[in-house]
Amino acid sequence: MSTECNKQITNVIEVLNKARSMELCAILQYLNQHYGLDDDDYGQLASAVKKIAIDEMKHAEAFAERIKEIDGSLEPTTEIHGKVIRGQEAEEIFSFNANSEQETMAIYNNFMKICRENNDSISATLFEKIIGEEQKHFNYFDDTATHIKKLGNSFLARQTAGN
Ligand SMILES: [Fe+2]
Ligand SMILES: [Fe+2]
Repeated sequence: MSTECNKQITNVIEVLNKARSMELCAILQYLNQHYGLDDDDYGQLASAVKKIAIDEMKHAEAFAERIKEIDGSLEPTTEIHGKVIRGQEAEEIFSFNANSEQETMAIYNNFMKICRENNDSISATLFEKIIGEEQKHFNYFDDTATHIKKLGNSFLARQTAGN
């Protein structure tokens, strides 16, 4: 394999691992919020956040599988990017998450570009697919943040069903 080709693979693996470590943080952050929302009896919000945490698990796994497909001898990262914030209230969770999904989309768009520049259209397509799912997460978090901001307690009071 040429040196140029090796360099391209290294660049792609680097962004796949960075994305995976961002997903690992999102999983723990969203699960932590899920426990708090559940404890506060906001069952519907708790179960929606848990479902999104499971989507992030699938993303973390998809990035790992792509790394293994490129080079089976590599061990995908177990590093968590950033720090999980504990003890957030329902009033702050949804705008916080909407921001973090938006940041993630911007970063993944850049990672997708890096994959294309390094001649890996399969990894670029994976980023494209996952960006579409982060957009759906953003839409849900942003809509919910708006409802909480506009309706406050009357909206929150209606979120006690679910599991
Ligand atoms: Fe994700
Ligand atoms: Fe997401």
